[in-house]
Amino acid sequence: MNARLGVGFIGSGFITRFHIQSWRGVRDADVRGVWSPHRERAEEAAALARTLRVGEARAFASIEEMVAAPEVDCIWICGPNHARVENMERIVTALGRGATLVGIACEKPLARNAAEARRVLELVGKAGVLHGYLEDQLFTPSVARAREIAWARGAALSGRPYLARAAEEHSGPHMPWFWRGDLQGGGVLNDMMCHSVEVGRNLLTKPGAPRDSITPTKVSAQIASLKWSRPEYAELLRSTMGPEVDYTRRPAEDFARATIRYVDELGLPLMVEATTSWSFVGAGLRLSMELLGPEYSLSVNSLDSGARIFFSRRIQGKAGEDLVEKQNAEQGLMPVIGDEAAEYG
Ligand SMILES: NC(=O)c1ccc[n+]([C@@H]2O[C@H](COP(=O)([O-])OP(=O)(O)OC[C@H]3O[C@@H](n4cnc5c(N)ncnc54)[C@H](O)[C@@H]3O)[C@@H](O)[C@H]2O)c1
Repeated sequence: MNARLGVGFIGSGFITRFHIQSWRGVRDADVRGVWSPHRERAEEAAALARTLRVGEARAFASIEEMVAAPEVDCIWICGPNHARVENMERIVTALGRGATLVGIACEKPLARNAAEARRVLELVGKAGVLHGYLEDQLFTPSVARAREIAWARGAALSGRPYLARAAEEHSGPHMPWFWRGDLQGGGVLNDMMCHSVEVGRNLLTKPGAPRDSITPTKVSAQIASLKWSRPEYAELLRSTMGPEVDYTRRPAEDFARATIRYVDELGLPLMVEATTSWSFVGAGLRLSMELLGPEYSLSVNSLDSGARIFFSRRIQGKAGEDLVEKQNAEQGLMPVIGDEAAEYG
């Protein structure tokens, strides 16, 4: 293994670019490679890594070549959901030909459905390397710090927290494949719910205690297509995302909620409420988290960023996402997120 961990990315889209930007806060590891079916985009992502000085990255001609490269120790799987199994198969093929890796990390979701997820697990078992999934939100600095303090002060003196709420909401994904259940695996539940469930579980788990110190006992969940199957919005979707995205005939849910009951080590009941939606129109992406205990409560809202900027009605610039991810407006009083890669964990 190299003294510094070398990471190669599969995919060169939105999340790969986010990872590369966030790498400025990562020590002892470098971005060394990118593979994507679009060579030019892979070259651009590799150039971004070099420009940000987070690694001497280069574009590779195939997954197999990247896995075999001596400077690549780990693979980050950041392709579209429908390519998970194929991407994993290629990694395992390269390992079978004698390449070595330390680990494989996968973006959420693990796959489109349970059968594919089992196949991905089977393949990573064959690979015989360290593996994990790339969760981000529980590493949001304000969430991590507030959790520490809630436990150190509130829980220590008045008892453990019992209710965690977490929500991720925005106005809808940026690429057509996300909207197609056949390619993505479903709607917003498969896309984002895992973050909110994990944040809720993490808030309720005592810092330093193992994951199984709280045990889920019951899950109830619900999905709905609230906005995007309305005729005028289905039409808007078709005109912006292409004819294959037809929510009058093939809708996917744009809202999901889940309630998860847990018990702690003493058998006391705990609850996580998770909500996720593609039907929230505010300034942009909103992550909200709460933790309630007997004599304390914690709350975080990513749109309460501390920085705001006001644009009068005479400012009519082009649409962009320069103030906040999934930005919905360029006028009025808008929040500005200082460092999104850090803020979202
Ligand atoms: N953790 C998070 O907050 C978060 C946020 C966004 C996306 N994601 C996940 O990251 C993954 C990628 O999402 P994105 O927003 O970057 O999508 P994207 O469409 O912007 O990028 C997808 C990339 O995959 C490449 N690709 C196409 N076909 C491929 C194939 N067969 N094998 C490998 N790569 C292929 C594309 O060329 C593109 O570079 C998804 O699984 C998504 O769920 C996670």
